[in-house]
Amino acid sequence: MKQVDLLYSGKAKSVYRTDDPGVYIMKFRDDITAFDGEKKDTLGGKGRYNAEVSSFFFRYLEEHGIRTHYLESIDAASMAVRALEMIPLEIIVRNIAAGSLVRKYPFREGEPLDPPVIIIDYKSDLHHDPMLNDDLIFALRLATPEELDQIKATALAVNEILREYLDARGVTLVDFKLEFGRERGDIVLGDEISMDSMRLWDKETGASLDKDVYRFGKGDVMEAYATVAKRILSRPGGETA
Ligand code: C5P
Repeated sequence: MKQVDLLYSGKAKSVYRTDDPGVYIMKFRDDITAFDGEKKDTLGGKGRYNAEVSSFFFRYLEEHGIRTHYLESIDAASMAVRALEMIPLEIIVRNIAAGSLVRKYPFREGEPLDPPVIIIDYKSDLHHDPMLNDDLIFALRLATPEELDQIKATALAVNEILREYLDARGVTLVDFKLEFGRERGDIVLGDEISMDSMRLWDKETGASLDKDVYRFGKGDVMEAYATVAKRILSRPGGETA
């Protein structure tokens, strides 16, 4: 399989076509952005940490019965993925109130949400990712009712799997964002699962271990990302595998 041309370049990842029409290469760049692209930087090594964590979680989810786009790791910052027709929805699962939920609604930061809350945003820079509801999703023909049911059920299943895995390694999964696509009519989990797309708190100290460190200047971003990568590869309780 050979990389051919650039298909798409987002804020932190680039997707390339290959000589196999069913396979793309996804490259995690060192770019980091926040606040709708208003804050931007390049942090050496960040792409590798996000690729490592995403690849790990995609493999782990596949082992637990979730269909993902992950095929194999190509190098430290790239992976081969199934070519999906992406659905422009951001599926956000929240276990604890934080971030925009606290800014927009009368929740206290840190308040548990049981059952978890799913929020779906329209992925559109032009429209600034507005929140959708089921009726809007159908009216905009973004997904069918059957697809949406499957997307929500899969997002909740992913939440249970990731939450348990991270909790055993001293990390609280506060919330995260998923994106899905279609492959020959099937719904498949795509995009990434990384410190850019999850909100993670240290279970002991409550310290942020994710992009909030960058968003709000809370300390050393790379140190936080490195901590997550290390904990994820460790055995429950903290011993390194
Ligand atoms: O900002 P907000 O609190 O709505 O983010 C919820 C979760 O979704 C966070 O984990 C954030 O990193 C993720 N997210 C994302 N991409 C976006 C919006 C949110 O990965 N465009």
